[in-house]
Amino acid sequence: MIEKHKIVVLPGDGIGPEVAAWGKRVIQAIGESYGHVFEFEEQLIGHAAIEATGNPLPEETLEACCAADAILLGAVGHPKYDNDPTAKVRPEQGLLKLRKSLGLYANLRPIRIFDELVQASSLKPEVLQGVDILFFRELTGGLYFGPSERKENGNVAVSTMIYSKDEVRRIAIKAFESAKNRRKVLHSVDKANVLEASRLWREVIQELAPQYPEVQVHHMYVDNAAMQLIKCPAQFDVVVTENMFGDILTDEASQIAGSLGMLPSASVGDGVGLYEPVHGSAPDIAGQGLANPLATILSTALMLDIAFGLKRESQAVIDAVDRVLKYGYRTADIADENTPAGKRVGTDAIGQKVINEIELAVSIA
Ligand code: IPM
Ligand code: MG
Repeated sequence: MIEKHKIVVLPGDGIGPEVAAWGKRVIQAIGESYGHVFEFEEQLIGHAAIEATGNPLPEETLEACCAADAILLGAVGHPKYDNDPTAKVRPEQGLLKLRKSLGLYANLRPIRIFDELVQASSLKPEVLQGVDILFFRELTGGLYFGPSERKENGNVAVSTMIYSKDEVRRIAIKAFESAKNRRKVLHSVDKANVLEASRLWREVIQELAPQYPEVQVHHMYVDNAAMQLIKCPAQFDVVVTENMFGDILTDEASQIAGSLGMLPSASVGDGVGLYEPVHGSAPDIAGQGLANPLATILSTALMLDIAFGLKRESQAVIDAVDRVLKYGYRTADIADENTPAGKRVGTDAIGQKVINEIELAVSIA
């Protein structure tokens, strides 16, 4: 019997449904081309779920996710909440609760430069030489999940960065293991000169380091890391950091890769994993067919590899994206003045090109 892989798709909000649809089609194309069976089930999350049920993460969604082999997410967020800091129910809560409920403590965000997009980056080509970074962002602790409240009649607010040694250790181990199999350089990013939670973080990294003698460990303050990332990004191999620091640094790092529209991510723990683009719901371009689906498509490559162990298929997706870029096709976020009108394409056209390339590669193999 052929093994069935069950995938829950959470389209979410804004451009989420447009990009998630192409993620799903790419997985289907891989299934057809390589003889795998993928089963899809769609569920609500974010603003879409609030509208339908009042809850950004309905019980039914969580149950389906728990029973799945992998989860593909589009994006969550809606402008309606941006200027309403008093809103008690928010789309982002759906995603945060999902990460926490599934124990997805490690968020992997690879920063890879596609040669073709060097021009799209705001950095000089020579600075981009050899850049290949893998971020391990802690995802279920820290400032995002520490005690948070309003006090004194609403006039004072407190958010807390809280970590246990166990929480730091489990993500640090993942980062060390990964560094061991890469260029063997690990940067641990913290703010240990100011924050107690960061001093604990640093202590754990120091405790683990002797078990990985082949890995060169550097401790770096987050403010310096923000600067070093654009000054000399090639010095980084694996970076491990706190939740909020990782959120900020990976958006910054996306500009090294040319666009936030190119960055995939995988959120993993001990069970089912969640695969999603790093970008948000981009309400300004939602529903217009302009969104870049490549970050979601590259997230399916991470899914094929990490969730299903399908390395060849994962590479086939990355190679297909590579070729589409090589042929010059660009969505608006990665186009520049050298992109001819005929190569400026929308979500559907570039998504279809990727699928054509996947199918072509198999047919000539
Ligand atoms: C991300 C996003 C989320 C985060 C939001 C949508 C809650 O910015 O995945 O980086 O802050 O983690
Ligand atoms: Mg973010």
